[in-house]
Amino acid sequence: MSQSLTQRPLIIAPSILASDFSRLGEEVRAVDAAGADWLHMDVMDGHFVPNISFGPDVIKAMRPHSKKIFDTHLMIAPCDPYLEAFAKAGCDHIIVHAEAGPHLHRSLQAIRALGKKAGVSINPATEPGAIEYVIDLIDIVLVMSVNPGFGGQSFIASQLEKISQIRAMCAGRPIDIEVDGGVTADNAAEIAAAGANAFVAGSAVFKGGTVESYRANISAIRNAAASTRGEAI
Ligand code: DX5
Ligand code: ZN
Repeated sequence: MSQSLTQRPLIIAPSILASDFSRLGEEVRAVDAAGADWLHMDVMDGHFVPNISFGPDVIKAMRPHSKKIFDTHLMIAPCDPYLEAFAKAGCDHIIVHAEAGPHLHRSLQAIRALGKKAGVSINPATEPGAIEYVIDLIDIVLVMSVNPGFGGQSFIASQLEKISQIRAMCAGRPIDIEVDGGVTADNAAEIAAAGANAFVAGSAVFKGGTVESYRANISAIRNAAASTRGEAI
């Protein structure tokens, strides 16, 4: 079977962190209409990362505005006490950080027990080996290509090699490899070539402030990745 038939689907996941928070419902509807596949929700606690964003009640308020997958990235420690609240808020994917606590295996079991897809995110300094022991409990690996905490940072190029290593580690398993931080239409091709299939983008999607600009921004990232994947645009 050719590579193009075996690869995971191409996913563009705009990060709501870069939206206009005073109009969250509208912004969710706008990126949905503009062609987002998943909506990426960045949850920050001011402890695991040096910034505070939003929690389950805000996600619950966004939920009626889109039927698309809510891909929720928890940058919080501890995470276990809050997993149920995020599941009840309507998150479809719950992604925890490998560095957020000593019991990653337990967190992933808990997410699956809540009926949600389980993901693990790793910081730029974390090696792929840190998640190998939980590979059978993972639906998504989220590779941080910036230091988590803020949107608008530059892509850390050393993460490309790590993406390739993770791709090899996950070979033959139904695991999405997602990249988060500094993703643009200019680097999407090399990220796709390294083996990622899901692209989080905040500032590169929300620039322009209109549905039309969001559509053009999403298409530019999608087209760059699709051509590298050998897919028709
Ligand atoms: C960073 C967040 C990212 C961020 C991406 O901690 O996890 O999702 O919003 O934003 P950009 O695409 O602007 O780097
Ligand atoms: Zn994120």
